[in-house]
Amino acid sequence: MVAAMDISIRKAERSKLQDLSLDNLPFGRYFSDHMLEADYEDGEWKNIEIKPYQPLLLSPSLAALHYGQAIFEGIKAYKDRNGAPFIFRPQDNYRRFNVSAERMQMPTVPEELFMEGMRRLLELDQNWIPSKEDHSLYIRPFMFSSDELIGVRPSDNYKFMIILSPTGPYYAAPMRIYVEEKYVRAAPGGVGYAKAAGNYGAAMLPTAEAKGKGYDQVLWMDAVEHKYVQECGTMNVFFIIGNTAITPDLDQGTILDGVTRQSAITLLKEMGLTIEERSLGIDEIIEAYKSGQLFEVFGTGTAATISLIRELRYKDFVMEFDVDNWKTAPTIKKWLTDIREGRREDKYNWMWKI
Ligand code: COI
Repeated sequence: MVAAMDISIRKAERSKLQDLSLDNLPFGRYFSDHMLEADYEDGEWKNIEIKPYQPLLLSPSLAALHYGQAIFEGIKAYKDRNGAPFIFRPQDNYRRFNVSAERMQMPTVPEELFMEGMRRLLELDQNWIPSKEDHSLYIRPFMFSSDELIGVRPSDNYKFMIILSPTGPYYAAPMRIYVEEKYVRAAPGGVGYAKAAGNYGAAMLPTAEAKGKGYDQVLWMDAVEHKYVQECGTMNVFFIIGNTAITPDLDQGTILDGVTRQSAITLLKEMGLTIEERSLGIDEIIEAYKSGQLFEVFGTGTAATISLIRELRYKDFVMEFDVDNWKTAPTIKKWLTDIREGRREDKYNWMWKI
């Protein structure tokens, strides 16, 4: 429950925008002038505040720091051709946020707090939305347990926050991917479908090892047989074999239900491809590659949008792709960007006006 959707707003005295150019920004390094903060106490959300972006004062015994009860979302805001601000499919992220909250035994966040809080924050910091193509304002809602107690149990207190970061493309160039066989990202019954902070922390060692071998990211395989494709780095993944786009299904709860994944499925259907959401084994991928039927491989994610994969390495077998001649992934990437930036009709009503 929200006590009352009273959002107190305290404005920054001076905008940091004066010191920053919104062109060519790295991902996630700069933050806008304001942030939203709310506290869950005594079973309700209170102290809802938009205030100047600033550090938090936290106790060293803060539960989230010890046991990782922390979740987040990634959403993007754009400007259309007339400079009007829009957010891409925020209700889908809102729904997924509460799915993650439930899995992590955290309170759900009411729609009004999430959506209206985000809208008001964006209204205030809309000048931070870059206009340059492929740039956007990345919205990061997150929640963490805030009891000052190192006993292992769900907290009584939580903090929900939203911060904003103007950003350019996440993976600028087509990627080289290492098929990971030793480490796993998620197992059935685990938290793979939740956007839990620990999923990302646990991926850092495998990713660093793949980088050490010269790759950009790993392709995660299933935890049981190490044979079936799951996700790619922080993204969902698609394989175009013949006229079919295949992406792993969500049935086992090991894969994030990506908003960009859903959008890509819709656009691929519009392009006339058949879509299969099912398990896809590495043997089938290699066979399709050898017979010349594996045409494209790409990742989808909020931060990355659509990222082309130019090389896949499984054990000693290397699959290379001529991404410059691809049609499908570049087309849906362009369609998505054009919808987001107001150059293509938003016929699925994905853009939410601020
Ligand atoms: C996103 O695409 O929003 C992600 O969650 C990836 C990321 C952790 C930067």
